[in-house]
Amino acid sequence: MNKVFITGASSGIGKSLALAYAKRKCTLGLSARRIEMLNEVSNACKELGATPFVYQLDVQDRNKCEMIAKQFIEDADGIDCVIANAGIGGNDNIYSGSSKDINNVLKTNILGVTNTLMPFIPYMKEQKSGSLVCISSVASYVPLPFHGGYTSSKIAIRMIFDSWRPTLQRHNIKTISICPGFVDTPIVKGPARKLPMKSPDKAAERFVKIISKGKNTYVYPWHYKILIFIAKVIPEWLYNYVIKKIFHKPIN
Ligand SMILES: NC(=O)c1ccc[n+]([C@@H]2O[C@H](COP(=O)([O-])OP(=O)(O)OC[C@H]3O[C@@H](n4cnc5c(N)ncnc54)[C@H](OP(=O)(O)O)[C@@H]3O)[C@@H](O)[C@H]2O)c1
Repeated sequence: MNKVFITGASSGIGKSLALAYAKRKCTLGLSARRIEMLNEVSNACKELGATPFVYQLDVQDRNKCEMIAKQFIEDADGIDCVIANAGIGGNDNIYSGSSKDINNVLKTNILGVTNTLMPFIPYMKEQKSGSLVCISSVASYVPLPFHGGYTSSKIAIRMIFDSWRPTLQRHNIKTISICPGFVDTPIVKGPARKLPMKSPDKAAERFVKIISKGKNTYVYPWHYKILIFIAKVIPEWLYNYVIKKIFHKPIN
């Protein structure tokens, strides 16, 4: 994995992924909206021996995503792996009378992922290799109250990959869905910060290994599989009863 393009590389998991690939001396495409933070990540990557290219990018901007994909392929002289990591959290504001907040989550977390990945697919098809990675979430298995936008966005991208996988396998293109539980980054806010969280650097090291193995879907850390199992088998009425009793307002 030599030429890696990452969205949301200014902070959190994306930044840690950039540093993890930098340790492996990769050529990196680092993108996000906050250019100063990206430049800092880029300098740290250079110090680790990588060759980083920085692109200011809002993943909601389809045309710019297409332009920058082309630019990175030119700058890096190819592409091995694209990581659609950029994402936002936030509750639906269910009583606000406006779809503004939930739609912003859906646009960033779903359309932002397709905007990021699709421009690279023709190149990967032609070269008959490549890895596409999306950062989904454990939340894609558990309907979190007040976070319908976030949970459904994470299901959507996992499902897009499940749909694409057999088709793209014909061209030796891998589709890897990573589903983290809580990782200690700025996206986790409020009382949720009291829950146990993994460090983003440790998580990123694990993800780099999983990506190189080309695993289809990966839940991290493993114990969230128990929660996912419970969410699958619990009767709907019981889930609704418990949630109604416990959650009266958003926790994040
Ligand atoms: N941390 C967790 O517990 C956790 C758990 C499961 C899944 N995830 C997923 O992991 C991914 C990374 O999140 P994180 O935890 O590292 O949070 P974070 O530190 O807040 O990072 C989010 C990144 O996404 C970028 N971003 C947001 N909106 C963007 C946009 N419109 N265009 C381009 N970049 C945008 C941000 O950069 P700019 O603001 O500079 O643009 C930032 O670099 C997200 O998809 C998140 O849903 C996180």
